[in-house]
Amino acid sequence: MAGPMLSVRDAEGAAARVLSRDVQDFIAGGSEAEVTLAANRAALDAVFLTPRVLAGITACDPGTMLAGCRSALPVAIAPMSYQRLIHPEGEIGLARAAREAGIPIALSMMSSCLVEEVVAVGGTVWFQLYLLRDRGQVADLIQRAEEAGCRALVLTVDLPRIGRRLRDMRNGFTVPPQITAANLRDDAARMAGPPSAGASGLAIHTNQVFDPSLSWADVAWVRERTRLPLVLKGILHPEDARLAADSGAAAVVVSNHGGRQLDGAVASITALPGVCEAVDGRCEVLLDSGIRSGTDVLRALSLGARGVLLGRPALWGLASGGARGAAQVLSLLAEELTEAMTLAGCPDVGSARSLHITALAGVTGR
Ligand code: FNR
Repeated sequence: MAGPMLSVRDAEGAAARVLSRDVQDFIAGGSEAEVTLAANRAALDAVFLTPRVLAGITACDPGTMLAGCRSALPVAIAPMSYQRLIHPEGEIGLARAAREAGIPIALSMMSSCLVEEVVAVGGTVWFQLYLLRDRGQVADLIQRAEEAGCRALVLTVDLPRIGRRLRDMRNGFTVPPQITAANLRDDAARMAGPPSAGASGLAIHTNQVFDPSLSWADVAWVRERTRLPLVLKGILHPEDARLAADSGAAAVVVSNHGGRQLDGAVASITALPGVCEAVDGRCEVLLDSGIRSGTDVLRALSLGARGVLLGRPALWGLASGGARGAAQVLSLLAEELTEAMTLAGCPDVGSARSLHITALAGVTGR
């Protein structure tokens, strides 16, 4: 496809034309046999919407609130690491695109740009945390993100260690020395040189600095250290969702990390109704993993999500043209969503959330 970009999905081809093979694999890959990666798409495609007609819509309003922040769409950008690998503008470029689209961006703890510089772009920035073995560094980062002006903390809980990402292992993937986790102290910021054959430098580094023993006590520890809304990302089990609401989380993200962690984990959209039922309105429910179109956003809303996080498609846009390329992807997503809402007879996100769905095998509807 070399013609104009007409859909969010078209951006994948545009990115493939500019990225090296190993960076493409780093973005696209899942863990092990990539069963969960594929299931995310298959399960979304199995959700069929029952449109309403004669709804008298002249204009759709896709605006909403996400974790206490106003957003022009029920969408935020998912936290994704090392974006200067993808384009020299890195996270700053993606933050500019998010600001232009009027949606929040979650900045990864493994960002290759400084949090202060990303917040200076001027949109809504959330800061994502992993639990490092060095808790002092996590405490400092929480304070720094707050002082910089971040509006929420996203604690990712599904990465006690990194999933076996065979593509990265085969490629001997590593992040070059000029690109670092810019917000971390030197020992944790820099990756060692090329790994031995069959190993991923990223996996070796992550497993060295992340703490596999993270637990609910750590959630309470983070909670005590911040005034910001806390979002727990990587919840799939209804009982964990209940505990998350008990822990005072403002939101959970139903996520299998885009199929990059436990292979064989349930598709996020399949897990969504159970999580919504378990939290019973006590916290917001967001979803990611596999969102590729405006219709996918509508599918997630109709199954009870307040909104979604957009992962890989935002990186495809960044790769193809920095902030401008990412803005184009976000504007296509907005167009796709408002067109889908119009066709489904939904003037606003509230009506989208009560849209009737018919689900094929594996997804329980409402
Ligand atoms: C991620 N993801 C991720 N999540 C997180 O909490 N912190 C991080 O640093 C990263 N890094 C990261 C890098 C890359 C290249 C990808 C593709 C993903 C996971 C991400 O936030 C999100 O959960 C998934 O990307 C959602 O799935 P889709 O939309 O990409 O299918």
